[in-house]
Amino acid sequence: MSSIEGVKSIADADVKDKTVLVRADLNVPMEEGRVTDTTRIDRFAPTVRDLVERGAKVVIISHFGRPKGQRDKKFSLKPVAEALSKILGMEVKFANDCVGEVAEKAVWALKPGEVLMLENLRFHPGETENDENFARRLSVLADMYVNDAFSVSHRAHASTYGITKFLPSYAGLSLMKELEALSSALDNPERPTAALVGGAKVSTKIPVLENLLPRMDQIIVGGGMANTFLLALGHDVGKSLAEPDYVDTAKTILEKAKENNCEIVLPVDAVCAKEFKAGAETEVCDLDGVPADSMILDIGPQSIADLKMRLQDLKTLLWNGPLGAFEVPPFDTGTVEIARAAAALTKAGKLKTVAGGGDTVAALNAAGVTDEFTYVSTAGGAFLEWLEGKELPGVKALKENDC
Ligand code: 3PG
Repeated sequence: MSSIEGVKSIADADVKDKTVLVRADLNVPMEEGRVTDTTRIDRFAPTVRDLVERGAKVVIISHFGRPKGQRDKKFSLKPVAEALSKILGMEVKFANDCVGEVAEKAVWALKPGEVLMLENLRFHPGETENDENFARRLSVLADMYVNDAFSVSHRAHASTYGITKFLPSYAGLSLMKELEALSSALDNPERPTAALVGGAKVSTKIPVLENLLPRMDQIIVGGGMANTFLLALGHDVGKSLAEPDYVDTAKTILEKAKENNCEIVLPVDAVCAKEFKAGAETEVCDLDGVPADSMILDIGPQSIADLKMRLQDLKTLLWNGPLGAFEVPPFDTGTVEIARAAAALTKAGKLKTVAGGGDTVAALNAAGVTDEFTYVSTAGGAFLEWLEGKELPGVKALKENDC
């Protein structure tokens, strides 16, 4: 499902003197009109550099935030164009609209090797509605289209999906890299292979777990969602975050795991506290010793030791979600220690580590290991849908493109 067969890479296309419309995901954190985290721009920059060096006229399109089809200054991409310009060390021109006369004039004025960014796609309702006419208006700007935005490829929007009906369509360098990394961890992992699935609620991860069961040798369950599994096994979890309505689902997942020869790895002890606040008084509890007025907020030292041993035997680890309430110390200990152990094994060439989704990047950043993992995806929703085994519309459209 998530294979990259049939996707053409822009690396193999002749782009000289061509106008190339590149869909990026420049939906970056911003405060008071300034970009506060350039990770997505940094990842995208090599695609632009490559096209510039090969003599293309580069036109960048992206969304930013959710302005609901209305022009709204606070969702302008102008500060992002400035940030990209700094990173590239060259001028990035900017046009105040992504379709129509303003955009067309700016595109026609471009020379080979120049870069232009167009204003937020979502200022037009046609973008999220995947409106055919809007997709056509985008397509008239260029000779070819490039999707370099894995993290928005789960949206069937005009700029990720509809447009491929009108232009020869390719994957950009960072999209190719992302598809290759993800596919090597999910479709063809070197074994033994495990997925570490954490986060607050099991209810949001059922399709993920079901898709992973037949593919993984082990699934390490962490975070609040582990508590629902502990309930299913008859443990009392006190005041911990758990979903009693999903106890039967957890039991079914445990049964299916057995049928698939996949081991579900749960914590063997826990760090508990009566209050969820920084520096709260904590105690390490056995699974049968969680006090009625306490919450499980992290995995305990025995669980950390158990996971570290397991990592030693693995060849591939797919990581999605934290093991505990990592945002508030000291409940970050389990996540940080396991992330560092996985990073050290990766550095030593013994383990392939692929991570992504939601809080995962924040957790790995907090552990200071993001750059040491084999691959860390900046995608949230798209990463989850990919873990669920869904084909992402933006990738599917590239495979089906026959222009
Ligand atoms: C993201 O940040 O996950 C992507 O840019 C998608 O944004 P969206 O959820 O607003 O479509």
